[in-house]
Amino acid sequence: MQTAAEIVAEFAARPWRTVPATDLGAAAGVPTMLTSEEGLLYHWLGRRAQGAGVAVDLGAYAGGSAARLLSGLALSGRPFHVHSYDRFRSSRAFWARYLPDEPLPEVDDADLLPVVRRHLAAWEGHVTLHVGDIGEKHWTGGPIEILSVDAAKGSAMADHIAAEFFPALVPGRSILIQQDYLMAVQPWLCAQMARLRDQFLPLAHVPKVGLVFLCVSPVTPQALAAARVDGLTDGKLMQRVREAARWHEGMVPRAVFRAMLEQVKAHPGLRMGWQMRQASARARN
Ligand SMILES: C[S@@+](CC[C@H](N)C(=O)[O-])C[C@H]1O[C@@H](n2cnc3c(N)ncnc32)[C@H](O)[C@@H]1O
Repeated sequence: MQTAAEIVAEFAARPWRTVPATDLGAAAGVPTMLTSEEGLLYHWLGRRAQGAGVAVDLGAYAGGSAARLLSGLALSGRPFHVHSYDRFRSSRAFWARYLPDEPLPEVDDADLLPVVRRHLAAWEGHVTLHVGDIGEKHWTGGPIEILSVDAAKGSAMADHIAAEFFPALVPGRSILIQQDYLMAVQPWLCAQMARLRDQFLPLAHVPKVGLVFLCVSPVTPQALAAARVDGLTDGKLMQRVREAARWHEGMVPRAVFRAMLEQVKAHPGLRMGWQMRQASARARN
C-alpha cells in the first residue's frame, strides 16, 4: 500500500495529463461539462483504483463524469461500481448547450434519464442511478474509494453531502474530488474543508476550479460538526475562507480566495451559488 507521501508525489506529477484520449473509448463520446483535463483525471482515477470501495458521482448531468470514471475503472482490473446521483433533469438552455446532438425537448426541466441510460449502456451492471434530490439521499453502500462532489451548490447541501458520504471514505486510500472548490460563488466548500484539515490532504488543483484530496483520517461526527458551514455568519464564513487561503498557499493563488471574500461581502447572507451569480449579474447591469 502506498504511503500518503507517495500518493502526494504521484499526483504532483499530474499523470492524467499524459493519458491518451483514445484510452477513454466509449466515454470520450459522452457529453460532459468537465474540461478535457478533468475528464482525463476522472478516467485516470478510475484506472488507478485499488478495490478499496465503490465510486460515487454526485451531480452526473448527462453521465459524462460517470462514463469517464467507468472507462478507467474498467481498466483497473478490479471489480467496480459507480453510483451516480442527480435529479436527471435539464433546462432547455443547458440541453441546447451540452447536448447539441440530441433533439431539443419542447419543455423545460426535461427528463435526462433515457439519454443517460443510453450514454452509460456500455457499462451496464456497473452503474446505479440514484434519481432525485441528493438532499434527501442517504448513503448506506459501504466504503467509497472515489467521491466526486459536483452538486454542493449551496451551504446546506455541502453539509448534507459531507455528513452522508465523507464517513464512508477510507483513510489512506480514498480520493475526494471537490469539482467546484475554487468557484468564487461557492465559498462554503473551502470553508468546510478548512476545518477538515486533519482528515484531508490536498493533492492537486485541477483547472479550472477543482481540488483533489486524499482522505487521511476517519471523518467522525465531531469533525463534521466542527466543519459545518450552513448557518455561519458572513464574518465566520470569511474567516474560514482566509484559513483555506493559508492552507492552500503554494497550490492556489491568493486572488482566488480574495474573489470569494468579495462575493460574500457583496452579497450578505446568500448561501446558494446561483443566487450569488444572479446578484452579481444584476449589479453589473
Ligand atoms: C455541473 S453539473 C454536473 C456535471 C457532470 N458531472 C458532467 O460530467 O457533466 C451539476 C449537476 O448537479 C445536479 N444537482 C445539483 N443539485 C442537486 C440536488 N440537490 N439533487 C440532485 N442533483 C443535483 C444538477 O442536476 C446537475 O446535473
